[in-house]
Amino acid sequence: MLLTTPFHLTNKTILITGASSGIGRQCAINCSRMGAHVILLGRRPEALEETANQLAGDRKFIIIAVDLTDYDEVGGKIKEAVQVVGKLDGVIHSAGISTTLPLRMVKPEKLDHYFQTNVTAAIELTRLVTKPVFLSTEGASIIFLSSVMGMVGETGKSIYSLTKGALIAGSKSLALELARKKVRVNCISPGVVETPMSNQAVYTQNEQARQRIQALHPLGLGNVEDIANACIFLLSDAARWVTGTNLVVDGGYTAQ
Ligand SMILES: NC(=O)c1ccc[n+]([C@@H]2O[C@H](COP(=O)([O-])OP(=O)(O)OC[C@H]3O[C@@H](n4cnc5c(N)ncnc54)[C@H](OP(=O)(O)O)[C@@H]3O)[C@@H](O)[C@H]2O)c1
Repeated sequence: MLLTTPFHLTNKTILITGASSGIGRQCAINCSRMGAHVILLGRRPEALEETANQLAGDRKFIIIAVDLTDYDEVGGKIKEAVQVVGKLDGVIHSAGISTTLPLRMVKPEKLDHYFQTNVTAAIELTRLVTKPVFLSTEGASIIFLSSVMGMVGETGKSIYSLTKGALIAGSKSLALELARKKVRVNCISPGVVETPMSNQAVYTQNEQARQRIQALHPLGLGNVEDIANACIFLLSDAARWVTGTNLVVDGGYTAQ
């Protein structure tokens, strides 16, 4: 007898932040192609349109152009979106910012800025989407894009590591707190994946730096599909018993 696969997203509604670029964009495209209706959130409407052009033709979608740190605006926009595409079965929170800064340049205002985007926005989003008005009665799967930098260190990455480590730590408490609402909360921690973010980073700015970072990944650098596939697993019913965990997708970076 053949099994029916639980590894699909048919008719689920998924909100993807950071859907205008890199990992978030590919996640949105692949969720739609796996059968989901999608809400695309980012700041740049024209880049979100570019993502929308690559979705599966018969799936519903809506674009929300908003800055996630405009905390008061986000709820209203998501409410409008949910009325169009349906209540949420899942969230991929991919929006984030990165920096490489030596300690002498780590000032409180810099920390605030990175925490607001990478941590406060994640918590605020989770607080919003777990209200009954937004949440599917079946519950939901929430995924935070963390990073291997939330688990291990690298020179100049203290601010970024602090924010990404906070997501790994916070997701465990959120998983416990939200289990009674049938909401699962997990992190995915990628190694270096080729995206606009990594292409602007110090570690890819010259051939020598690129070769060094590549050598640190036994399976080579990742691509956006590698992360989208992991997200689809965590969103799907195949992961119904997975919560409070950190799925490391890093080509072996942290195995050493
Ligand atoms: N690429 C990697 O190697 C790597 C490795 C580990 C972890 N990650 C994590 O994976 C996630 C995605 O990274 P990526 O490489 O895909 O980055 P990216 O290509 O730079 O995309 C970042 C996305 O975040 C959105 N964003 C940033 N600040 C925002 C804000 N205040 N409000 C709303 N949207 C905001 C951007 O939207 P707009 O452009 O429309 O403003 C963009 O869509 C990030 O959380 C990153 O830390 C990436």
